[in-house]
Amino acid sequence: MVSDMNRVVVLPEKEDLPLEMDRGMTGSDVFLEIGFGNGEFLENLAGENRHGVFWGVEMSKACLMRAYRRIEKKGLHNVFLICGDARFILKECVPSCSLEGVFMNFPCPWPKKKHSKRRVSSGEFSAEIARVLRPGGFFELVTDEEWYGKEVRDVLSSHPLLSLFAWEVNPPRSIRTKYERKWLEMGKKIYLSRFLKQDGKCERKSGFLGRAEEVHVRVMGKYDLDSFLGSLYGTEGDVPDGRWVFRKQYAAEDGVRLIEVVAADGAFEQKFFLQAVQREEDVLIKVSPYSAPFLTPAVRGAIENLAEKLGVRAEAESLHRQV
Ligand SMILES: C[S@@+](CC[C@H](N)C(=O)[O-])C[C@H]1O[C@@H](n2cnc3c(N)ncnc32)[C@H](O)[C@@H]1O
Repeated sequence: MVSDMNRVVVLPEKEDLPLEMDRGMTGSDVFLEIGFGNGEFLENLAGENRHGVFWGVEMSKACLMRAYRRIEKKGLHNVFLICGDARFILKECVPSCSLEGVFMNFPCPWPKKKHSKRRVSSGEFSAEIARVLRPGGFFELVTDEEWYGKEVRDVLSSHPLLSLFAWEVNPPRSIRTKYERKWLEMGKKIYLSRFLKQDGKCERKSGFLGRAEEVHVRVMGKYDLDSFLGSLYGTEGDVPDGRWVFRKQYAAEDGVRLIEVVAADGAFEQKFFLQAVQREEDVLIKVSPYSAPFLTPAVRGAIENLAEKLGVRAEAESLHRQV
């Protein structure tokens, strides 16, 4: 959903995917900043380029609100903010060849080897950057950690569609970020790498995530739903890279039971409600129309797991009756 504030796109509200990146400013160049912190860089960039469209993705809600207030105060109408994990947002929400440039200023380097998977630049990052940039577009990373700058430089330049255009130490920059000022005041060096996407045709991506609204599961038979759901609270499940937990349940009208679920695919979390309704021959389980999670593996896992648990419980009860 684009909120009434109109510049904060809080996923996973109702918003079709992939996102419409130009936000109706047809023909404008579109840019993205990953991990915008207090939003100072975005604010200045967008203020100086009123015809461009600027997106920011940030994991911290506190940062999102700080940046939002900054952008409101300046009266900027060309900045759009998303709260979420940039790795998920890039992969699942951004259309191919839609961005002129991507900036990443001082990402957390996660220096320990055991945390290396948490680096924004890990995994499929280079492939996603290469996909979302238009031919000729750029990706720019600035860091105070030389080893990390070099790691990103080497990883990204080994992608066949990205070429290293610049590697600079202490580059002059017209807009500096909060962290940049901090590191420079401490006498640290700043390392910048800039990559260009090669000219060529655009590989379109299909199969963006849909919503889970369409998934319905039927469990045949009649059940004591109250007793079953009462035992569900706090139970968890997982699939590769995804997990979920069932939380409180509520009785809604007409015998509909609502079950609160929190599901996480990597660092991407969604909270939603499943509903279970006892019908003539079966129990119908589906996502409540009040929530609209993306159909990620964890969300699918939670729906199937609820049905499976109900089935197992019914089998146990019928065995108990036979004994
Ligand atoms: C060291 S701060 C830099 C902030 C700002 N760019 C600056 O230079 O002042 C790194 C920021 O990246 C954000 N971040 C870390 N991992 C992220 C991810 N996977 N997706 C989006 N933001 C992320 C953090 O919440 C934090 O605000």
